[in-house]
Amino acid sequence: MTKNLLSISDLSKKEILDLIEFAKNFKLGDGSFRKENLFPDKTVANVFCEPSTRTKSSFEIAAKNLGCSVVGFDISNSSVEKGESIFETVDALSLMGVDLCVLRHPNSVIRDLSDYLPEMVFINGGEGSISHPTQALIDLMTIMEFKESLDGLNIVIVGDLDHSRVTSSFVEGISNFSFGSLTFCGHPSMSTKYLDPALGKYEPDLDIALQDADVVMTLRIQYERFEETLDLDLEEYKQAYQITTERLEQAKGDAIIMHPGPVNYVEISESVYHCEQSVIRNQVANGVAVRMAVLSRFLSS
Ligand code: CP
Repeated sequence: MTKNLLSISDLSKKEILDLIEFAKNFKLGDGSFRKENLFPDKTVANVFCEPSTRTKSSFEIAAKNLGCSVVGFDISNSSVEKGESIFETVDALSLMGVDLCVLRHPNSVIRDLSDYLPEMVFINGGEGSISHPTQALIDLMTIMEFKESLDGLNIVIVGDLDHSRVTSSFVEGISNFSFGSLTFCGHPSMSTKYLDPALGKYEPDLDIALQDADVVMTLRIQYERFEETLDLDLEEYKQAYQITTERLEQAKGDAIIMHPGPVNYVEISESVYHCEQSVIRNQVANGVAVRMAVLSRFLSS
């Protein structure tokens, strides 16, 4: 196991499977999570330089469930607002005794930071459009929970692919496994990196992409990452790319519907979000278990 979790590619297939198995142990049958005072002398800082609900809160809950102290760092009220760089900010936290930093940042600074502060453990909590390794672990765990194995599964990813760190990390993670097929679908202006993918195929027509799908992963439009104002007719977009109850009839009857959140109800209808096949809320809950497993492993190494 590497010292830091900067990318899902830092993990071997065995390490991914071990982390998922380990995460299951933290889930109790009643929807709550095991609490064990395993790391009372460790301090975790959540340094989030972009908004987050699920990742930030679940890392905090996970760290507290493991007995860690948590620094709930608020970037908008920090000295970053006075012009301090992220390097001096995290160095200051290190000098105060923080052992592990969960970092979400719009730019790729985490590798340089980990070189700059080798004594600190870094976990990538979201890196621009590039990487979100713990989300990939959550997504793989959730699929395996509902489908037992990835073998033979037809997986469709639909939405704003170009800006999705969830997609890039998922693709890196699943490349360790055998599966049926992987299909990318989305508006051509949001799919430029996936028109001729190294793994899987691009299908512009959602109804064709969904045929015989076992897993449908949906993604919101990440307006915050477009360099120019997006000139898009939302009604036309929904007509072409929204996952609706009617559209789902193309997929297998037991297909699962996933979404990393937050959901905007553009990429997916409210009725699909709440349907029996939706495992979106399971993904959120699995976030705590996965992050307990990740924190345990990386605080121990
Ligand atoms: N999936 C995810 O990263 O959600 P948040 O932005 O709410 O953390």
